[in-house]
Amino acid sequence: MRSLLIVKPDICKGKTGMVLSMLIDNGFKIVFTKIMQLDFKVASEFYKEHFGKPFYGQLIDFMCSDQIVVVVVEKLNCAEELRKLVGSTNPEEAAEGTIRKKFGTGLPKNAVHASDSGISSMKEIDFFFSKEEQLKW
Ligand code: CMP
Repeated sequence: MRSLLIVKPDICKGKTGMVLSMLIDNGFKIVFTKIMQLDFKVASEFYKEHFGKPFYGQLIDFMCSDQIVVVVVEKLNCAEELRKLVGSTNPEEAAEGTIRKKFGTGLPKNAVHASDSGISSMKEIDFFFSKEEQLKW
């Protein structure tokens, strides 16, 4: 099973290596990584479920502010295991040992995005990668 994680702009250039290490140390296989910069249109589409929320504009501006790394990972019960390692949305509430506790500095700067279920993993992988591209992995 596969899932998707995004290393967010503020930690992308300095701490992506440490985030990838945490994934590997916790038994995730790194299937594919892609460095990219989101534009308004792509970020708005990706986060459309949050449209209308008070933090939406701030979230989109932040996600477009610099490069991100999109990471496809693989593990048994992948989405569930990934959510555990990533921790609560708000870094202040995230458990010790989680990625957001270690690298998050607040909201929306919570270090990483992770798909929240098996279904959203498939949707989010399809969002960033064509089926043709996925066949190569
Ligand atoms: P993410 O997993 O990328 O999914 C939606 C994002 O919205 C979330 O992580 C945070 O970055 C951001 N977010 C959620 N709640 C808030 C909030 N109350 N204020 C600002 N940003 C938020």
